[in-house]
Amino acid sequence: MSAAVKLMEKPDFLGFGLGLRAEHYSEILDGPPPNIDWLEIISENYMVPGGQPLQMLERVRERYPVVMHGVSLSIASTAEPNFDYLSKLKDLADRVEPKWVSDHLCWNGVHGVNLHDLLPIPYTSEALEHVVSRVHLVQDYLSRPLCLENVSTYVQFEESEMSEWTFLSELTKRTGCWLLFDVNNVYVSAFNHGYDPKTFLEGIPQDRVVQFHLAGHSDMGTHLIDTHDHPVCDDVFGLYRHALKRFGWVSTMIERDDNIPPLSELMDELDTARGIAREVLGSIRDDSPVSQRQSAVA
Ligand SMILES: [Fe+2]
Repeated sequence: MSAAVKLMEKPDFLGFGLGLRAEHYSEILDGPPPNIDWLEIISENYMVPGGQPLQMLERVRERYPVVMHGVSLSIASTAEPNFDYLSKLKDLADRVEPKWVSDHLCWNGVHGVNLHDLLPIPYTSEALEHVVSRVHLVQDYLSRPLCLENVSTYVQFEESEMSEWTFLSELTKRTGCWLLFDVNNVYVSAFNHGYDPKTFLEGIPQDRVVQFHLAGHSDMGTHLIDTHDHPVCDDVFGLYRHALKRFGWVSTMIERDDNIPPLSELMDELDTARGIAREVLGSIRDDSPVSQRQSAVA
């Protein structure tokens, strides 16, 4: 583990949040603050030198804790590291001071071509060595730990020597990176590849997960596609229940990227998640920032 990230403590539980989407800017910033504990921004939308996006972000930052979530880090790519991208990511992180910076365990393209998709990797020792070295490089460059998310997959590699959960467990153990556990992605991949999603869950170390994503998918009959254009389905909320039992209080958010509904609908889904968490784990811990914020408001 690199010296730069060795001393980073596990981030606090933030409560229940949403992905910030342009459609909801005015409701989130101009009206009374909705019952949202924190917001996740898409890093690439704000990796600009100035202007309106950064002004908006400044206002968001004054009101809510923020985490950064990227889609183009391409951590598993065998191409040369993209230091132009990393420099912009670092500038944004230094400006926003997010609770953490996440991206996906995947690659996005090679030879300068970004396919704008989160592509799967073979789970081999060779790939693990490569990704471990890349995570060290990025964490040292950013001077902060990364948080990596499991992606939905539709194919598997014959070359794979270990499960996805073993790969993620080794990665977090060897680099100190945190994990973003996307409950829907686990559900989608487990269905597509025919394994029990609880096996995945039970294979991940209990103390490394700092964030949950909850999202909707499309059921194509023979397979599921991770579309983020539907509400979270009952089965994914069911798996979330198991995830809470294993990982405890973990910052949770609804991730919606298409067919964006009114904010009130996403708030209802978030309330469902809150209700499930309270049912599974009891009331919010007294020492959590959420509890302290709620007492300050009361
Ligand atoms: Fe996700």
